[in-house]
Amino acid sequence: VSALSRRLAAQRVVICAGAGGVGKTTVSAAVALGLAAEGRRVALVTIDPARRLAEALGLGRLDNDPRPVNRAPIATAGLAVKGELWAMMLDAQRTFDELIARLTPDPWTREEILHNRVYQHLTGAVTGSHEYAAIAKLFELARRPDFDVLVLDTPPSRNALDFLHAPERLGGLLEGRALRVLLAPTGYGARAAGLVVAALRRITGAGLLEDLAAFLGLFGGILDGLRTRSADVKRLLSESSTGFLIVTSPEPAPVQEAIFLARELDRAGLHRCGTIVNRAHPGAAHAAVLEVVARLEPALGRELAAKVAEAHEEVQRLAERDAVALERLELALSDELPICLADRARDLHDVADLVELQREVFGDGLADVSRVAARQS
Ligand SMILES: Nc1ncnc2c1ncn2[C@@H]1O[C@H](COP(=O)(O)OP(=O)(O)OP(=O)(O)O)[C@@H](O)[C@H]1O
Ligand SMILES: [Mg+2]
Repeated sequence: VSALSRRLAAQRVVICAGAGGVGKTTVSAAVALGLAAEGRRVALVTIDPARRLAEALGLGRLDNDPRPVNRAPIATAGLAVKGELWAMMLDAQRTFDELIARLTPDPWTREEILHNRVYQHLTGAVTGSHEYAAIAKLFELARRPDFDVLVLDTPPSRNALDFLHAPERLGGLLEGRALRVLLAPTGYGARAAGLVVAALRRITGAGLLEDLAAFLGLFGGILDGLRTRSADVKRLLSESSTGFLIVTSPEPAPVQEAIFLARELDRAGLHRCGTIVNRAHPGAAHAAVLEVVARLEPALGRELAAKVAEAHEEVQRLAERDAVALERLELALSDELPICLADRARDLHDVADLVELQREVFGDGLADVSRVAARQS
């Protein structure tokens, strides 16, 4: 059993978090696949996956609910799935609409809210609302008996921590303090409402104030429900069966963000279940490669051999950079060893790619190779 399998064995919720573009969506799919292969019933919630990855997972339809992933291509790629793999693509607006529908028993009020322009713009445009939608969906799925484990991808945000604070931020927003300022837009609170105002400026035409007043009136009725929900979500996030899997690339900025995120999770008393360094460059034994290049020279000619040597130098430089970042990460996360995944030098998007990545994730990755590079530099 791999180190990651052991750490994920007791998890009911795995949240993949990290800087933008590091591979959260790809890694979360590989993790979900691996857990399903081990025999668990897994629901993967992805956010805005690349089109080809979505197709590979059969996520063509936007129905905001998990669907079974076709097993045939997975089996063809050589992986037996003992459990079940379900996947969905999160639709933030629909998740909000569902939440409103659940919290509003009266169908007239529900329709009024859903058709209110202020509501529609707020949920679409305000920072944190996608993060909140992801958590709301997670909460809903966690209450269903159909799945043993939920793997959640997180949205690209400027700051990985946005995700953690989303419930509070959105809670504050929906309580309408900022909105009320809009109705009397002078004085102290007006500046604080800047973000909301910016979102609402996009509503053109007459009747904004009427819509706003209607929204506040309608929404007042479900605030208690939202507050309770927010508290429930916080509880779910802090349960020991909920774990955060930190994903990063070996570049300095994402590594810095990963270290920061780990500290923030620790401080908040939330559980970390692992760290993945994606797109790492394993170093090769330098001397050995130079020897091979020298031996190839007669066959390649001097010019081509020099190019090969140059390309190797470049890879070696990346490997050394990765080794330095990895060392920093290991030092900061003294309690666990990050798992390194190789840079494929091409996009990963079909089932065979995911199966391959899954093998690396659950085979403890390239950790040893990278450490070889670290020792050499
Ligand atoms: N190990 C890898 N080797 C090569 N390419 C990779 C690897 N991992 C991910 N990629 C590619 O990098 C790109 C970004 O990956 P992905 O969408 O998973 O990142 P993300 O963290 O979810 O991004 P965002 O923050 O925008 O949501 C994709 O095109 C993906 O195919
Ligand atoms: Mg993504």
